[in-house]
Amino acid sequence: MKNTRHFVIDFDSTFTQVEALDVLGEISLAEHEEKEERLKELENLTNSGMAGDLSFRESLEKRLALLNAEEKHLGKLVDRLKSKISTSFIRNKEFFDEYHENIYIISNGFKEFIVPIVTELGVKEEHVFANTFRYDENGKIIGFDQDNVLSSNNGKVEMLKSMDLQGDVYVIGDGYTDYEIKAAGLANKFYAFTENVERHNVLDKADHITPSLDEFLYLHKMNKAISYPKNRIKVLLLEGIHEDAEKILKNEGYNVSTYSGALDEEELSEMIKDISVLGIRSKTRLTKKVLENANRLIAVGAFCIGTNQIDLQECVRRGIAVFNAPFSNTRSVVELAIGEIIFLMRGLPDRISEMHRGTWNKSASGSNEIRGKKLGIVGYGNIGAQLSVLAEAIGLDVYYYDLMEKLALGNATKCSSLEELLKKADIVSLHVDGRKENQNLIGEKEFALMKDNAIFLNLSRGHVVDIAALKRNMESGKIKGAGVDVFPQEPKTNQEPFESELRGLPNLIMTPHIGGSTQEAQVNIGNFVPGKIIEYINTGSTTNSVDFPNLQLPILENAHRLIHIHHNRPGIIAHINNVLSQHDCNIVGQYLKTNEQIGYVITDIDKAYNEEVIREMKTIEGTIRFRVLY
Ligand SMILES: NC(=O)c1ccc[n+]([C@@H]2O[C@H](COP(=O)([O-])OP(=O)(O)OC[C@H]3O[C@@H](n4cnc5c(N)ncnc54)[C@H](O)[C@@H]3O)[C@@H](O)[C@H]2O)c1
Repeated sequence: MKNTRHFVIDFDSTFTQVEALDVLGEISLAEHEEKEERLKELENLTNSGMAGDLSFRESLEKRLALLNAEEKHLGKLVDRLKSKISTSFIRNKEFFDEYHENIYIISNGFKEFIVPIVTELGVKEEHVFANTFRYDENGKIIGFDQDNVLSSNNGKVEMLKSMDLQGDVYVIGDGYTDYEIKAAGLANKFYAFTENVERHNVLDKADHITPSLDEFLYLHKMNKAISYPKNRIKVLLLEGIHEDAEKILKNEGYNVSTYSGALDEEELSEMIKDISVLGIRSKTRLTKKVLENANRLIAVGAFCIGTNQIDLQECVRRGIAVFNAPFSNTRSVVELAIGEIIFLMRGLPDRISEMHRGTWNKSASGSNEIRGKKLGIVGYGNIGAQLSVLAEAIGLDVYYYDLMEKLALGNATKCSSLEELLKKADIVSLHVDGRKENQNLIGEKEFALMKDNAIFLNLSRGHVVDIAALKRNMESGKIKGAGVDVFPQEPKTNQEPFESELRGLPNLIMTPHIGGSTQEAQVNIGNFVPGKIIEYINTGSTTNSVDFPNLQLPILENAHRLIHIHHNRPGIIAHINNVLSQHDCNIVGQYLKTNEQIGYVITDIDKAYNEEVIREMKTIEGTIRFRVLY
């Protein structure tokens, strides 16, 4: 018969993300004049106690003396701690429900705040072993129950001895005192829990380093529904992707590592071998050679707008879904365009550089308001449409032209040809995409169609404009001013010099492709892309995927979801359904979408499947990838 398993869990920085006494200090010392110094000292004392550098009782006494806390502060403390329960504990609530008979919280903290928190997740109150406070007649906390073994040095060990648990004992905690239980021979294994803090002297002693509760459950091969092995999904984020992305993916339980730079083809080919999700920005090239080594890769997050750096054909051929952030920096580009329009209408670029050279040129000549001027937007997509709204709000009269039929926003007027727009506009702003047909979309002929003294902006793609023609038209005065953020040839790094025949022209704003480069856009991207990847992994939804057919799927309930990705050939669905019917699997939902290369079929079935179904699904001819969600 299998031994009973007992799970001994620490509270501070393990069950919760924080140290409760530190939080109590923030509450009780809120108005105290020595607040900052005392909080710092509290933190130092906590750490020295946890790291084993200071005897526990001494650290506790000193901390309580510093706290100046009262009973009335405890309610607030509990409220704060409730929002700080470790995310992997919340995610695995089923574990606490199912094993509540064998879960114990053993802590040097205090029952007054531990019990209300842990019982929320289903831990039994009588399984909480911790200290209790002592108060004076006014409710001030003046100490602790000195008879409780947990208030003494080596308290956890003494407590475990007295509990005399029969069976296997596993200790999960972040501190030295948790390790001591194992060292005293009272536990089979000590798991150093690093989701919230990492203490090096503790890590060295651990049987396993456990970045989240998922890892612990996985190691213990607990019920599959409980320990969906998300921690086995390895994520590699390159190029200094915003920290929000790392946080979101870690919170989901994935095993995330980050790297601040880009990797070259050889390095990435090696690194990618056991990676399930790769996050890159524009500098990492995801080539066929790299992808040949990417046997576990299921999704790529392009934390940027463009996906030229990725061999999308090869990704789709291998069943790897690619997601980007198509409108996370839209607003940033639009704000820059608005700013430039105002600057150029006032001739500011020249006034500014004159001032830097010591020239005072106060004059209204050639300086205009934007109110009532006609703005012509070429390309009424995400950016064009957003610019339309903002421009109108500050008094511009908006005209637009797009190859596709687009809804006119606000009072904007649609033009039926590029020619019509160019003739009408005082300001022409390009927001077309980078398709190759758009090479030199604006050249000599188009400049000639524009009004004299027109303002011209290109914040879209460099190759869309014939630069030599722009230069001639600026020199002739036909174009009064221009804003250019993108160039046919751009330096690959900040170390390379910028060469362009436009350099030195008057009333010209040149910027180094930074239209979308703002902190806000980085945050948006860092939040958007992980959301798409998590949705794809959890539900199979491919909304916004660049290479996969887009399918928005309902959340799965009481069913198993089978995801089959295959080469787009006739007969595969019939084959899938055949396998399922032969194994008596009842289909409760089926969703299919194809593109030129692949077919994407999701089938929800209502009863447990066996290994044979999976084996047969994988061997259907034309299968690229098959995975089961639950
Ligand atoms: N400067 C930057 O830092 C920066 C940042 C983000 C995006 N961009 C660029 O801005 C451009 C627009 O981005 P978006 O998100 O709005 O793209 P989008 O795909 O939403 O919109 C592009 C629109 O242009 C239209 N179009 C394409 N060719 C056209 C043509 N020849 N004539 C008329 N309409 C045409 C399309 O039909 C589409 O509606 C892209 O080129 C993108 O690469 C630049």
